[in-house]
Amino acid sequence: MLCRTGLILGALLLVALAALGTTGAHGVFVSSDPAANSILSEPPRAVTITVSEAVDPASPTLRVSNASGVRFDEPPVVVTLDGRSISVGLAPNGPGIYTVTWSIVSAVDGHLSAGFFSYAVQNSDGSLPGPLPFAPATAAAPISPSEIALRFVGFLGLAVAFGSAVLTMFVWLPAGRDPDAREALGYGLGLQALLLWGRLGAFGFGVGMVGLLLLATGFETPGGLERVAGSPYLLSVILGLGIAVAIFLALSVALAHARSTHPEASRAPARGALILSFAAIFAISLGTHAAATAAVPLSGILANAAHLTGVAMWVGGLAGLVAVRGLLRDAKALPLARYAFAGFSRLAGYAILLVIASGTGLALLLVGGWEALGATGYGWVVLVKMALVVPMIALGGFNRYRLIPQTADAARTAPAVRALGRSVRVEMVLGTVVLVLAALLTAMVPAANLAAGPQVFSLQSIADGIRFDLWVDPYPTVPGNYTFQILLWNVTSGQPYDEGRNGTLTFTLLNSTVSPQTVDLLGPHGNHYFVTTPAMSQLGVWRIDVRLSRGADVDLYTRFHIALLGGA
Ligand code: HEM
Repeated sequence: MLCRTGLILGALLLVALAALGTTGAHGVFVSSDPAANSILSEPPRAVTITVSEAVDPASPTLRVSNASGVRFDEPPVVVTLDGRSISVGLAPNGPGIYTVTWSIVSAVDGHLSAGFFSYAVQNSDGSLPGPLPFAPATAAAPISPSEIALRFVGFLGLAVAFGSAVLTMFVWLPAGRDPDAREALGYGLGLQALLLWGRLGAFGFGVGMVGLLLLATGFETPGGLERVAGSPYLLSVILGLGIAVAIFLALSVALAHARSTHPEASRAPARGALILSFAAIFAISLGTHAAATAAVPLSGILANAAHLTGVAMWVGGLAGLVAVRGLLRDAKALPLARYAFAGFSRLAGYAILLVIASGTGLALLLVGGWEALGATGYGWVVLVKMALVVPMIALGGFNRYRLIPQTADAARTAPAVRALGRSVRVEMVLGTVVLVLAALLTAMVPAANLAAGPQVFSLQSIADGIRFDLWVDPYPTVPGNYTFQILLWNVTSGQPYDEGRNGTLTFTLLNSTVSPQTVDLLGPHGNHYFVTTPAMSQLGVWRIDVRLSRGADVDLYTRFHIALLGGA
């Protein structure tokens, strides 16, 4: 009854997530060059988009067109060496308004992300090429309900297969050495039920992997092996699928032995299934957020694998006990029941420690800070997950320190075993809900990644053979105090240009009656000037005229524009 409740709760949660998936969206866009809504003095030669996760090399699209729809991008779109940026060269272009549309599939988790933004190239006299249709850059990647469902099926299936092998090896077969436990009718049947259940789990794990593979490739694999090699996610899913088949076969052999010969004969294939389940845990840990985000190589994969091992031991063991609980209620099976519950409880203690330690490590890595816990959807899901672990641990503690000791007292064994049966079902329901939340987490963009990549705002302009680099910090979006830095370079030699003397910036808000404001630049220090000023005091497009004296020589002059749009 409680199992059914668990399934219904899980299904309801999936439906709720499905509803969320149709409306909710998340972005992985980090930055672009040119920056979204920037106004450039010189036409760019290429456009580059940087996202928060490595890009599947077969997937990116990047188009650049002007206001009349003429395209300027010159394929191919290339993925940079670090895998997180895509870039396309541009045909010769001039003043105008340009729109960039892009899409990528993450090599880490197979998610599609897409977006668009505009930038402008100002006229050669420094005026604007027309009205600017600027809006905040968009970036979206809808959460896929089918992906969450498939990941959940995969996690549950792997946990059930792993748990069945662990219970067989470390609880059931050792219990068989005690003649009292072994004589119970349920001993042989229980072993078969466990292995059958584990085989069903391996099947579910395989179904989850097939589904994820089809979802990621859309029934095609353009790029073939090369694409798989470039995408840890595809590699992990394909390896997972192969291992699922092997676990299924190993458990089938163990089941055949359990049915026909001495139960001990199923030990070797059950051990094989356990080793294969470990391999599966490592395989799917290759294509996770933790693997992609961790700064220290392998640490993310190891943390994820430790978490999954603890989860599979805990939830998979609970599932195994739920499968055999009917047999354990029989009066003659009470010694066996004592072994089963006490043996699992010991293992669960280690599993919980592993889950909490590794879960905390993953949360530190992927949430990124306390603030993000309450401020992002990802952080909230982690919080709910942590909250659900508390009653799971409380129930486990109650079983271990209250009910299991009662099973040693002959008069109280039967009611204690019945209570243990009920308790593990409740734990299993909670575990199922936490698995759905885990599946949701793996389909979202981690909070730490959303905050990734400090946005850098820079513009360039060339006048009189001198290149002006303008850097603005922080990234300008709203009125406020900004630091402006200017660096000068000799275009032909590429060397710093340090002949400049004092200089000024004049800020003019276009289409307004606000009086222009001129501020002195500090410097030069070699080729470097800077000033911090609140001159950009309102939303709108600001023209910034730069004037630098160079002694007796003619002054240097250039012009930039910055659009303050508010918000993003
Ligand atoms: C202290 C409690 C826990 C914390 C802080 C925690 C945190 C996390 C985090 C941050 C991730 C990474 C998700 C991603 O890839 O974006 C994760 C993954 C996961 N968690 Fe937990 N978790 C906890 C307990 C649990 C429990 C009790 C279960 C199961 C009942 C569970 C099951 C999973 C699963 C299946 C994954 C996916 C691993 C993968 O992608 O290979 N977690 N957890």
